[in-house]
Amino acid sequence: MQRPNYPSGKDLLSADAVSRFDLDDIFERAERHLREEEQEKAGILPEQPTHRRRPRVIATLFDQRSTRTRLGFQAAAARLGHQSIDAYDTDRSRMGTSTGESVEDHIRTVELYSDLLVVRSHLEDMPYRVSRLSYLPVINAGNGADEHPSQALIDLFAIRQMRGDIEKLAIALSSDTRARFAVSFVKMLRLAPPKRFTLCCLPDVPINPVMREAMTVLAGLGTEVRIVHDVRQTLDHDVLSIQMQDMSRFAHASLGNEAVDKEQESEPFTITARKILDARSDTLILNPLPRFSELDTSCDSLPNAGYFRQVQLSVPMRMAILERMLSGVPWTGQAAN
Ligand code: CP
Repeated sequence: MQRPNYPSGKDLLSADAVSRFDLDDIFERAERHLREEEQEKAGILPEQPTHRRRPRVIATLFDQRSTRTRLGFQAAAARLGHQSIDAYDTDRSRMGTSTGESVEDHIRTVELYSDLLVVRSHLEDMPYRVSRLSYLPVINAGNGADEHPSQALIDLFAIRQMRGDIEKLAIALSSDTRARFAVSFVKMLRLAPPKRFTLCCLPDVPINPVMREAMTVLAGLGTEVRIVHDVRQTLDHDVLSIQMQDMSRFAHASLGNEAVDKEQESEPFTITARKILDARSDTLILNPLPRFSELDTSCDSLPNAGYFRQVQLSVPMRMAILERMLSGVPWTGQAAN
């Protein structure tokens, strides 16, 4: 079979794949999609139709549970006038289990039906394996405890939309330092280094070396970097992105009926309306969701709550990612294949 010659940089597998040029371009595209959506809602049609090409097919291959990433990419595809197919259905497809079709044959088949692959796996090497197997562009939609680069693009876009120029801000992250969204987030911040960055983490758990390295890079770029162990110490920041401190038991569960352990987050790492009000804080609270007990529902009615707006802003960002990759525009960062 004659395989098209895709340029290197076809895949979004890591935050490392994204350069400052790419970030500016993707923000511009996402802002255009957001503007068009707002114009449509206001009954004003966009100045020119943007979706002229034949519909493309986006294949989602998820062996882990997902609400936002899977449905978000499917919704973004639909809004661009494209289609999506669920290419990892363990009950109905022939991949694995009873008929034992290999990953290789499955990917070779799926790529003939589609134009772009979105892969989430509990296996860290799976998106890389798919990327090597397929000539199609591949998005890593979360791989084990490694990375979640499209979530990081969404998070930076949400911050920019809700608080402005990232480089002028004080940004805090309260999270397990092994969480894949957190790793990609801090790696991606190197492209727009904030004035201050504060990591809020457990005092007695070693910091993930990849996170430590990303923080060292930020410090080298002039960001004032600090580590704290109580979320109250982040409430003078412009932004706080918060998740559970110990994600290991439930965040990376594969498909199946396994119960999710809803353990209580310890008090220093839980954000509540009381804490925000006591600190008279206007910190924007973000969370990649799903939330666990680290983010109390009492926060939902405060103006600080940005997490559902973050979900809303993920639509134009995912549209921008798909549009860019389907047009063959390469990622030009350090690890662009
Ligand atoms: N934020 C995120 O990755 O959510 P899902 O697990 O629902 O996709």
